[in-house]
Amino acid sequence: MSGTATTTFNAQNASAYEQMMGRWSRRLAPHLIRFGGLADGDRVLDVGCGTGSLTFTLPAAANVASVTGIDYAQAYVDFSRSRNTDPRIAIRQADACALPFEDNSFDRAFSMLVLQFIPDSRSAVQQMQRVVRPGGTVTAAVWDSFGGLPFTRMLSDTARILGLNAKPRPLFRGLDAPGEMAALWRELGMVDVEQTELLIRMEFASFDDYWHPFTLGEGPPGQLLGSLNEDDRELLKGHVRQSYLANRPDGPRSFAAIAWACRGTVAEEPRP
Ligand SMILES: C[S@@+](CC[C@H](N)C(=O)[O-])C[C@H]1O[C@@H](n2cnc3c(N)ncnc32)[C@H](O)[C@@H]1O
Repeated sequence: MSGTATTTFNAQNASAYEQMMGRWSRRLAPHLIRFGGLADGDRVLDVGCGTGSLTFTLPAAANVASVTGIDYAQAYVDFSRSRNTDPRIAIRQADACALPFEDNSFDRAFSMLVLQFIPDSRSAVQQMQRVVRPGGTVTAAVWDSFGGLPFTRMLSDTARILGLNAKPRPLFRGLDAPGEMAALWRELGMVDVEQTELLIRMEFASFDDYWHPFTLGEGPPGQLLGSLNEDDRELLKGHVRQSYLANRPDGPRSFAAIAWACRGTVAEEPRP
């Protein structure tokens, strides 16, 4: 992936993404749809559809007219296309900051766990607003990666304490501080704006089930582990294992995961 200013997300292998995050984002999808709203006959856009967790859940929630998924990563687009059996769903490669659609093409736009990886997230939200008709909705979710995502904080905080992060990533990323999404939605002129939090649980069968997906190269955990030499990876693994086990025998553990979600309606009057 070339990824200059358009994305910071490390996407190489869709099956690896499914193990690392897709299995969890599928759980989040129905909550986001319920919050964002959906009606029979809607034309829906899924921005940053990845391997299709939200795209494939939308038609199960209402008899939609169409779902269009776009993603920057061709590998994810190919994967989700290969799994699609619904003629109402179309998936293509595109940049959230330059959506290849006419104004007012959709009734709703959704984006799940994407905006924090787009340096110019304002432009991505503006694009969603542009392609949704007046009266339609723009809904997005980002992980509360500072306060609500222990499964990755265990990894990144331990690496930081051990001095292993060559370039520690900021704990706050775009739009994931409280109220930040709603402030942007309002600034862009959307109305009836509401921000909430959505909770799922991530259940792991064992430490290996928790750890192995991080070693597959996808997303920020993949980037972090990929930057370490073998010795440092083993050092980190040993310490994170202790956090996971928490003085009990290896086995199942359950972690809360909280996403911020924001919904707004595209105003009827001309946009600012
Ligand atoms: C954490 S994944 C979320 C994928 C999916 N929405 C889900 O919930 O499983 C982030 C996704 O955003 C996509 N992405 C990042 N920057 C993008 C951009 N500028 N335009 C389109 N997609 C982008 C990545 O390729 C990746 O698929």
